[in-house]
Amino acid sequence: MKVPFSPPLITDDVRQHVAEVLESGWITTGPKTAALEEEFTAFTGAQASIAVNSWTSGAILTLHWLGLQPGDEVIIPAYTYAATGLSVIHAGGTVVMCDVGDDFCLDPDALKELITDRTKAVIPVDFGGMPVDYDAINAVVQESSGLFSASSPVQERLGRVAVLADAAHSFGATVDGESAVGKADITIYSTHAVKNLTTAEGGMIVLNLPDQFDQEQERKWFRLNRLNGQTKDAFAKSKAGGWRYDIVSRGMKCNMPDICAAIGLGQMATYPAALERRRVIYNRYAAALASDAFILPPTDIGGRSSSCHLFALRLADGWSARHEEDGTLRDQIIQYAADRHVALNVHFLPLPELTLFKQMGFEAKHVPNTVRLSHSEISLPIYPQMTDEMVDHVAKTVKEALEERGIRSD
Ligand SMILES: Cc1ncc(COP(=O)(O)O)c(C=O)c1O
Repeated sequence: MKVPFSPPLITDDVRQHVAEVLESGWITTGPKTAALEEEFTAFTGAQASIAVNSWTSGAILTLHWLGLQPGDEVIIPAYTYAATGLSVIHAGGTVVMCDVGDDFCLDPDALKELITDRTKAVIPVDFGGMPVDYDAINAVVQESSGLFSASSPVQERLGRVAVLADAAHSFGATVDGESAVGKADITIYSTHAVKNLTTAEGGMIVLNLPDQFDQEQERKWFRLNRLNGQTKDAFAKSKAGGWRYDIVSRGMKCNMPDICAAIGLGQMATYPAALERRRVIYNRYAAALASDAFILPPTDIGGRSSSCHLFALRLADGWSARHEEDGTLRDQIIQYAADRHVALNVHFLPLPELTLFKQMGFEAKHVPNTVRLSHSEISLPIYPQMTDEMVDHVAKTVKEALEERGIRSD
């Protein structure tokens, strides 16, 4: 049986929305993008949503909004995809890496040690769809507000370190039954092809700013600066007689096209059911893989509830330590499955083990838990189209790979 890792969910609704765009005579940013923004705002209960062409560009734009200056520091977990760090570099800031806890998420105690008067933002990552412990992170940020020194008018208005959620994995995640967006100043989703809800490539910036901000004003800033700082978008400009415009700031060019938004719109109608199916698959894996050989990812921790984007299985510490200084047992399992057409994956390599970050002077020894978790992690396929038989087959293949190496997993 072939099991791909993360194929997109292409339903009749998706085909319908995409066909409408193709027929409409307008394929870039326009009514479908606006409709998807409204869907995100309604689904998350946020103040406003701004669609962009990736999480990465959304994060760079957000850091520009924050007025990041050279020397300003942004704290990120070392356990994430490279884009979290690259966005800070592209926005002209300095990356500071923080270790994670056993939930794969930014460790609030480690964060406390890293905040200085140079810190302007923290970007916690909702790894695998599990919301970070935002209450603990917000408490650390509040406690450190005496240290805060603003280097831009927006930072001045905020008066503390900004909490910008990397929610690339966590559309639909909740804290105490409410959307997790209520816990961060700005939440940025990815709608890349492998994400829970996709637009092929894309991202969504969702605002939840404190009262001293005028939401509509800030929303306008993001809309203007995702399109070259242009006072009129291409849709309005294309109307007969609507040609005149001005450029009023050094904006980025990172708007989401309607042809992409249409895919996401088509997935919205079934998204609650897709989330539920992901949860069922999680629980099915958990039942099949309950064993001393593994550490299973939870769907819920306290009031934090995952969007079940990744099933991040871990080899128990004994096995990963005994067999794999450099990930060999893990790698062998992945190869065993690949030989049988089952695609497994790894999320993530620790950032300090990647050439760019190594060359910048980051060292894995400063983030020991990131390294320990990463070397024992195997991501199993999880998506709503998976049948129970596919889930059972993946679990069986992983167990067989261990058994072939003399490791019992029953
Ligand atoms: C945790 C995390 N952050 C950011 C990104 C970047 O998302 P995008 O590809 O939409 O820029 C990803 C994508 O895989 C991710 O996993």
